[in-house]
Amino acid sequence: MAEQDELRRLREDAETRHFIDESLNALFAPEDDALRGALAAARAHDMPAIQISPVQGRLLQVLAHACGARKILEVGALAGYSGIWLARALPPDGRLISLEVSEKHAQIARDSLARAGLSDRAEVRVGPAAELLPALAGEAPFDLVFIDADKPGYPTYLDWALKLTRVGSLIVADNCIRGGRSLRAESDDPNAEATGIYDWRVASDPRLLSVAFPLDDDGMDGFAISVVVRPDAAGVSGPGA
Ligand code: DHB
Ligand code: MG
Repeated sequence: MAEQDELRRLREDAETRHFIDESLNALFAPEDDALRGALAAARAHDMPAIQISPVQGRLLQVLAHACGARKILEVGALAGYSGIWLARALPPDGRLISLEVSEKHAQIARDSLARAGLSDRAEVRVGPAAELLPALAGEAPFDLVFIDADKPGYPTYLDWALKLTRVGSLIVADNCIRGGRSLRAESDDPNAEATGIYDWRVASDPRLLSVAFPLDDDGMDGFAISVVVRPDAAGVSGPGA
């Protein structure tokens, strides 16, 4: 009997979490045809359903506005869903440069951005990010960098994000929790190990003031968010300081 009560409570909790997610998405981050189109394109091309959630898209927009973003760099375009959220936070003369390793995915992302009427300010470049990033120095500094690509590349992408930003820029990375695997001392998941290294680095780098919190996948995954700080602010950015 106690077991049945416990099962009922677990089911009710799951239903409540689902209700909260749906309500927050509907209230703060309703999707329009262009966003739904990017999701449909991903499904039609058998791409994995690993887009950010609507509320995460809205959070990126809040952050972009908070730092007055005019230039945004995205590492990993997938089908252009997050790119639509990001590019919509830009002023008309702003610029989103999105890097995508797959030519096929890049074209799908371009089509998604075009359907959203954003082709004037959003560009998708094709190639391994580690090869494309060094060529962006002339277009830096970026006001916001969003990393959501192959996980083993995260530490390298962080190195470049630090080179390509300015004090006050934001660096956001998806999938920095991975069901807790990123936070364990030992992991047999190389993706989680790499995002764990990313977490440790942004938590301890004196150039950054960072936080990560679980806001996706039922509290199992989420963003790490860092702001690039003045060198003289280093004292406030150390772990727990
Ligand atoms: C994976 C990648 C993502 O960017 C994500 O949001 C979820 C999962 C993955 O490769 O497993
Ligand atoms: Mg992701």
